[in-house]
Amino acid sequence: MSSGKPAVRLALLGCGTVGSEVVRLLHEQADDLTARIGAPLELAGIAVRRPGRERGDLPVDPALFTTDALSLVKRDDVDVVIEVVGGIEPARTWLSESLRAGRSVVTANKALLAEDGATLHDAAAEGGADLYYEAAVAGAIPLLRPLRESLHGDRVTRVTGIVNGTTNFILSSMDASGAGFGEALEEATELGYAEADPTADVEGFDAAAKAAILASLAFHTRVTAADVFREGMTAVTAADVASAKAMGCTIKLLCLAERGPDSRGTESVSVRVHPAMIPLSHPLASVGDAYNAVFVEAEAAGPLMFYGRGAGGTPTASAVLGDIVAAARNRLSGTRAPSESAYAHLPIRPIGEAVTRYHISLDVADRQGVLATVAGVFAKHEVSIATVRQSGRDEDATLVIVTHGAPDANLRATVEDLRTLPIVRSIASVLRVEGGA
Ligand code: NDP
Ligand code: HSE
Repeated sequence: MSSGKPAVRLALLGCGTVGSEVVRLLHEQADDLTARIGAPLELAGIAVRRPGRERGDLPVDPALFTTDALSLVKRDDVDVVIEVVGGIEPARTWLSESLRAGRSVVTANKALLAEDGATLHDAAAEGGADLYYEAAVAGAIPLLRPLRESLHGDRVTRVTGIVNGTTNFILSSMDASGAGFGEALEEATELGYAEADPTADVEGFDAAAKAAILASLAFHTRVTAADVFREGMTAVTAADVASAKAMGCTIKLLCLAERGPDSRGTESVSVRVHPAMIPLSHPLASVGDAYNAVFVEAEAAGPLMFYGRGAGGTPTASAVLGDIVAAARNRLSGTRAPSESAYAHLPIRPIGEAVTRYHISLDVADRQGVLATVAGVFAKHEVSIATVRQSGRDEDATLVIVTHGAPDANLRATVEDLRTLPIVRSIASVLRVEGGA
C-alpha cells in the first residue's frame, strides 16, 4: 500500500525472542500499519551480536544486520530506535544518544528503566523525543499507557500485580499438584517458561524492576529497583501451599505498590515484591499458568483489573508494535507522547512501616500455658492475632497463627522473639497475607 508519504525509518537493536517477532509483525502487517500511521514503516538496520546467526525464515534483508549499534542509532535517516537487547550497558548509551538527538525510542528493557529510568527520561526531555516502554511490564497487557494517560485524571492508591510469568507458573503448578519448588521449577524449565538461570525470576529481581516502573507511573514519583523491598519465592514449600489451601488461600509472588501516610503522617510510597497468601476470592487468585495480571485501585475509578500474557516473543512484540505506531504517528504529526510525570516526589517508606499480615506456623509442645506465652509475644509487639489453629497433640503440636494488619517491623520482631522461646521447637513457615480483611 502506498501512502505517498516518506517512510518512518526504524533502527532495531536486538533480534532475539522479541526482536525477531517484531520483524515478523512489521512484515506481516505492513499494509495495515501503513494505513494506521499514514506512512510506511521501514527497517533501516538491525543491530545484533552475531550477524551470521541462523535466524530461520525471518523476512528481512540480511544486509540490514550490523554489530555496530551505536553507529546505527546515530544515522541521520533513523527516526525511531527500538531496543530489545536488554541489560544496562551499552543499552543506556545507545538510548540516551538517540533521545538526545531527537530520535524516538521504544524499549522493552525493564532492567534499565528500573535502574536508571531518570537518565532516559532526562535525555528524552532534552531531545524533545518520545520514550515508550509498554512491553517492559507485563508483556502484551496494555497497562502502562492506562497508567500514563487514562488514569491521569484520577489518584491511584494501590497497584497489586502478578508480573512474573515464570514464578506464577511454578506456584500454580505447586498449588495444583502439591509438588515442591524444585519439582515445579524443573517442569517450568522443561516447558520453556524458566530460563537456564532462573535467578532473576525466582528471586524476584524481574518483578522488582517491574514494580519500580509501575510505582513511578502510578504515583508520579521516581522509584528505582533499589527502592523496592524484594523477597524471592524459593523458600515457599509444599507445606506452605497446603497451609494456604486449608485457609482458603493460594500463594502468589506479588508486586505491591501503595501510597499513603507513613508513621509520621507524611504521604509516602511503599513498594515491595514477595510471596504472599491471598484469599481465593481475590481477583488475582485465579490467575494461573504463566499469565500476568495487575489490579489497580484508584480513588475515583475504583478497582481495575488488567490480565494477559506477560512474556513470550509474539505477545511482547504486540506491545512493542503498539508503541512503534504511536511514536511514528507523533513524528508525522509533530507531536509528542506525554513526558515523564514525576512531580509528586513522594518519599519511599521503608519495609518496616509497610502494613501487612503474617501467617506463622510454629511447632510447639502441647502444654498448659504455651498458647498464653506465645500470645504474650504478639501482644508485646502490638500485633493483634486474628485466628489460631492447633493441630497435633502432646510433644508434637503445630500452631498456625494469622495476624491482623501490623507494621512489618513489629511482625518481624514478633517472629524473632518467638524463635527464642524454649517452648517453640521451630518456626515452620512465615508468610505474608494480603488482600483480605
Ligand atoms: P534475547 O536474548 O532473545 O535477544 C537479545 C538480542 O540482543 C539478540 O538478538 C542479540 O544478538 C542482541 N544483542 C545482545 N548483545 C548485543 C550487543 N552488544 N549489540 C547488539 N545486539 C546485541 O532477548 P529477548 O528478546 O528475550 O529480550 C529482549 C528485551 O526484551 C529484554 O530487555 C527483556 O527484558 C525484554 N522482554 C523480554 C520478554 C520475553 O518474553 N522474552 C518479555 C518482556 C520484556 P544475537 O541474536 O546475535 O545473539
Ligand atoms: N522472565 C519474565 C517472566 C519475562 O517470567 O515473566 C517477562 O518479563
